[in-house]
Amino acid sequence: MAEAQIAYSTDKAEAYRQLVEEIASVVSGETSRIARYATTVSLLTSAFKERFFWCGFYEVDPLKERELVVGPYQGTLGCLRIPFARGVCGACATRRETIIVPDVHAFPGHIACDSRSNSEIVVPVFDAAGELVAVLDVDSTSFAAFDEIDARGLEAACRAMMAI
Ligand code: SME
Repeated sequence: MAEAQIAYSTDKAEAYRQLVEEIASVVSGETSRIARYATTVSLLTSAFKERFFWCGFYEVDPLKERELVVGPYQGTLGCLRIPFARGVCGACATRRETIIVPDVHAFPGHIACDSRSNSEIVVPVFDAAGELVAVLDVDSTSFAAFDEIDARGLEAACRAMMAI
């Protein structure tokens, strides 16, 4: 059974360290990838609810050529599909690296699922074989809400989520 969520540090880097441990502990032994994604979204959103207006996964669709399809998320309605050639999510999937966008309105090809989003970070998710399987997308209503601490923290969270 899931345990009560912990009180996270006000120090962001420390809060991410706590989250990484919590994610690893809760998903340990879980074979369903959807369960891992949903759990991670829930824990991240709970920890950073002021900044995380939208938080969720877009999975690489194995049935389509270079296309993402929405997975577990928390927030307002997200678009269902994103080709690799479009949006911040597509750029992340193509480059296979984390992208921080301080002002989404200045990002060419940005997809506005909700006009209240003003900044965004997208992190690639790899399986044990190093294959790109998804991206983690987080949006904020504030401009420049994400920095390198978020990048390293969310990357660590995704690694913990994918660890067997
Ligand atoms: N803004 C994203 C699309 C997904 S939503 O923000 C939920 C993008 O440009 O890829």
